[in-house]
Amino acid sequence: MSTQQPPSLQSRSQGNQQWGGRYSGGPSAIMEAINASIGFDRKMWRQDIRGSLAHAAMLRHVGIIGADDEAAIREGLAAIGAEIEDGSFPFSEALEDIHMNIEARLTERIGEAGKRLHTARSRNDQVALDVRLWVRDAIDGLDAQLADVMQAMVERADEHAATVMPGFTHLQPAQPTTLGHHLLAYVEMLGRDRSRLGDCRARMNQSPLGAAALCGSGFPIDRHMTAAALGFDQPMRNSLDAVASRDFAMEFLSVLAICGTHLSRLAEEFVLWTNPYFGFVALSDAFTTGSSIMPQKRNPDAAELVRAKVGRVAGALVGMLTVMKGLPLAYGKDMQEDKEGIFDAAETMALCLAATAGMVRDMKPDAARLREAAGAGFSTATDLADWLVRELRMPFRDAHHVTGRLVAKAEGRGVDLSGLSLEEMQLEEPRIHNGVFQVLSVEASVASRTSYGGTAPVNVRRMAAEWRERLA
Ligand code: ARG
Repeated sequence: MSTQQPPSLQSRSQGNQQWGGRYSGGPSAIMEAINASIGFDRKMWRQDIRGSLAHAAMLRHVGIIGADDEAAIREGLAAIGAEIEDGSFPFSEALEDIHMNIEARLTERIGEAGKRLHTARSRNDQVALDVRLWVRDAIDGLDAQLADVMQAMVERADEHAATVMPGFTHLQPAQPTTLGHHLLAYVEMLGRDRSRLGDCRARMNQSPLGAAALCGSGFPIDRHMTAAALGFDQPMRNSLDAVASRDFAMEFLSVLAICGTHLSRLAEEFVLWTNPYFGFVALSDAFTTGSSIMPQKRNPDAAELVRAKVGRVAGALVGMLTVMKGLPLAYGKDMQEDKEGIFDAAETMALCLAATAGMVRDMKPDAARLREAAGAGFSTATDLADWLVRELRMPFRDAHHVTGRLVAKAEGRGVDLSGLSLEEMQLEEPRIHNGVFQVLSVEASVASRTSYGGTAPVNVRRMAAEWRERLA
């Protein structure tokens, strides 16, 4: 968000040249300050030029402007694009937004023809178009980044398909799992995020251009032509809806908020896992920072920031919903407030995805420590109970009780379950035999969980291969 000088109350003498006919006086400086969006909507300059090129080509095609006008517009817009790119474009706050800045500059450069560009168009359909194009571009960029994060996770998952680690519920040791299985859980979540992005893109891919101010146009425009030229599936069917709706932006932000939530969970796990009390993984200098006072520190700042940044993404969603709530049809200036949240959320997510991919590739798991932790907390107790069911045909609820008493006994003696002798176990259940020890190791535990979607290394390898293929 731009930092602005407090505006003075004085009126600026010069009126806006875009509606100079009716207006003789200029806006107060405060009006100008609250009205201007150029500080942020200049980000859409590429989309604005793309839209204007398609509009001008259509105007020429249907005979509303001549070929010479269209050529001049095309050249003028290309020159303006170059000016914006090299930083020489004279952005003006008085010209409010990116649409009027570009149009005014075009007229400055090419004269008459520039003034014809806005025929059969309003800033209302123009801005609706630009935001759609911007969001669509953002979706494509974020989708590629999501694919990259998933790729990184799948590679690490394959590499660690058999690296046992503790699986938690309530953040308490529950059952042994593998690092590969854990990472593939995130791949599934991010895969759904991608699919949600795809749904959002498919639903929003209709062109508002030609809706004009709100009721369409009396000129013989060809909305199908501009829609096709801009890569849309079709023009939007209702002109009021076209200029008044921002549900595509709400949907986009909700997808990002969900995805950001997923990333924040992994980020939190990185924070925990790199803590020396866990010691599960290490992150290198590339993704940690030191402390200015404590020489021993290695702080997981990137992970902490990914964990935190979802706050502003979810905030953008709430902001957008609140701006649109109760807004009467069709366009309202309120909708100018859609942009900063959209831009910020998309850029924040791009950064978070890059940081996540980086950390996943960077992390060094400590397999020995993970294995040790996987065996702690009587994590194979469920395996023991299952063994009692299978071997002794004991009802599961009874097996649960027997195992519970054995856990209490082991805990009292300060050993894990495999540290109990057969005799000690038989005091609780005389039919227990030596075979029981085979299921008490963490390796046996993970290897046994071959049910579809289960943690067994064979499953993990198969799933990793499936994902690799899907991502290729
Ligand atoms: N800057 C405006 C926006 O972002 C563009 C549309 C203005 N339309 C109008 N009729 N004032 O929404």
